[in-house]
Amino acid sequence: MCGIAGYIGYRDAYPIIINGLKRLEYRGYDSAGLILYDKETIKLVKTKGKVSDLEEKISDEISVSGKIGFGHTRWATHGVPNDVNSHPHYSESENLVIIHNGIIENYDTIKQVLIKRGYTFKSDTDTEVLINLIEEIKNKENVKLGKAVQLALNEVVGAYAITVFDKTKPDEFVVARLGSPIAIGIGKDNKEFFVASDASPFIEYTKNAIYLEDGEMAIIKIGREVRVRNIKSDSLVNPDVLELKLSLEQIEKGGYDHFMLKEIYEQPKAITDTYRGRMLVNEGLIKMAGIDDNLQKFTTANRIIIVACGTSWHAGLVAEYLFEDIARIPVEVEYGSEFRYRNPIITDKDIVIAISQSGETADTLAAIKMAKEKGAFVFGVCNVVGSSIARESDAGAYTHAGPEIGVASTKAFTTQITVLTLIALKLGLAKGSISKSAYHTYLQEMELIPKKVESLLAINDKVEKIGSIYKNATNFLYLGRGFNFPVALEGALKLKEISYIHAEGYPAAEMKHGPIALIDENMPIVVIATNKGHYEKVVSNIQEIKSRNGKIIAVVTEGDTTVKGIADHIIEIPETEEALTPLLTTIPLQLLSYHIAVMLGKNVDQPRNLAKSVTVE
Ligand code: M6R
Repeated sequence: MCGIAGYIGYRDAYPIIINGLKRLEYRGYDSAGLILYDKETIKLVKTKGKVSDLEEKISDEISVSGKIGFGHTRWATHGVPNDVNSHPHYSESENLVIIHNGIIENYDTIKQVLIKRGYTFKSDTDTEVLINLIEEIKNKENVKLGKAVQLALNEVVGAYAITVFDKTKPDEFVVARLGSPIAIGIGKDNKEFFVASDASPFIEYTKNAIYLEDGEMAIIKIGREVRVRNIKSDSLVNPDVLELKLSLEQIEKGGYDHFMLKEIYEQPKAITDTYRGRMLVNEGLIKMAGIDDNLQKFTTANRIIIVACGTSWHAGLVAEYLFEDIARIPVEVEYGSEFRYRNPIITDKDIVIAISQSGETADTLAAIKMAKEKGAFVFGVCNVVGSSIARESDAGAYTHAGPEIGVASTKAFTTQITVLTLIALKLGLAKGSISKSAYHTYLQEMELIPKKVESLLAINDKVEKIGSIYKNATNFLYLGRGFNFPVALEGALKLKEISYIHAEGYPAAEMKHGPIALIDENMPIVVIATNKGHYEKVVSNIQEIKSRNGKIIAVVTEGDTTVKGIADHIIEIPETEEALTPLLTTIPLQLLSYHIAVMLGKNVDQPRNLAKSVTVE
């Protein structure tokens, strides 16, 4: 959601900013803009639309010279997406300029005060209010930009990642963060700096970066070390300078047409990377520091509450089945957005597991903060290292999926399930709720999963063909039971978010309580009917669909003969333990959505209205 890419130093800023904005496109946005500072002038261009539209506009309007500048991709909150509401925004005097991710909740009250003091506003945004508040404080208190930003931020309520520039002090940026990430790339000898929403815009220039913590601001000045302070307490902070592990290759498409397809194909490796070093099959061991160090807490917990959103919530539902079946611990799965506002009963005997690819989802983050305040122990399952949720958690396990850039989560889902399966097995063994031999069988089977995922990727053409038959359907139904009920939900979510076809996931047995009314000869129904776990019951559901002329796409276990005789299309998955089937059944559903969306000409990697990390509530 919204992206920031900026540069201050000795290189031409424009290519760094524009390429940076392109790398941040995955976050989701509806407009783009930038400033370049050159020859004592700020050049500002912004437009509704894509970064490519911005490039076009720039080529018509300005020369791209300048060693200082920053750019922004905006995902509209306050004010419709249009040229005027796009960022950057000037202050009244046009000396100050800002880009902002997040929401200033009390902007209207501040705006009314500023209007009375003679400020005028061109846009409908909360951001323009913030830059004018900074200017008002700077002039009234006669303070430097950094101090003015700090004082202004102490007056606002909301969330932000901001970068501010003052044309009267053109060798520095002021940046600040609360609830929205900001990374500062540090060039050699402090001769240049980069600011961005994540490290991808500057990865080829420097491997050293500071990630601001919530409530921190920094003054970035050429030739000097970055000065970080706490916005509220005003105390100086000694920031950690991290060495980035990200590589350019990881954030490029690598020959695939879309990031989503690349990420689907990366799953065998991503799953292996997730269990590598943790699952020692020969020794019969699962090593996870975050669990080992807190084993007693987990084995004596009253219950586990999982909080997450979207696809991560679906992984949480799979974990509910895993934890209850294997580790015999009661589990509740909650949407972050509901949990945080409903005054839940939480005690210090509860463990809250937060699942989040980005580690920045605002509702999940707020939910764990609230759970911590109420005494719960919080365990984070995140992909992005150093993300807010990872930092806020008492302990955790990274999924090690590598950067996920396609807005539709794919490898994040399967690697989350992998981590959660390892935790369930570890706890099951520690509690004695699973036999040693069953535990060993799971480890051996788990080790085979990447190869089995590979075999499913090999049937890509077949899935594409099925997609071509149903690409013009207006509704899809996805059905599954037990471990595969969440996979049905996930399959439906994948289809709707990238193809904009309405799709619903249901537990197969619930079909009779409503959705069956929708079934006719135009309705494709994807049914997961693997050979273990309620197989006969699902077969009955398939018969019921058949009797109503629905079109059946069945995901079955290799060698199935019963469903083959009834369904219109069969997709076979290799045999495995029932609890591990979600890692396989989900693959063809990802491919099906992908191909349908491509055939419909949709923007697969950046679907309309969606953002990769949802940093506002
Ligand atoms: O980064 P998170 O895992 O916390 O994100 C949660 C959801 O926003 C995310 O899974 C979303 O539903 C995806 N677009 C699904 O593909």
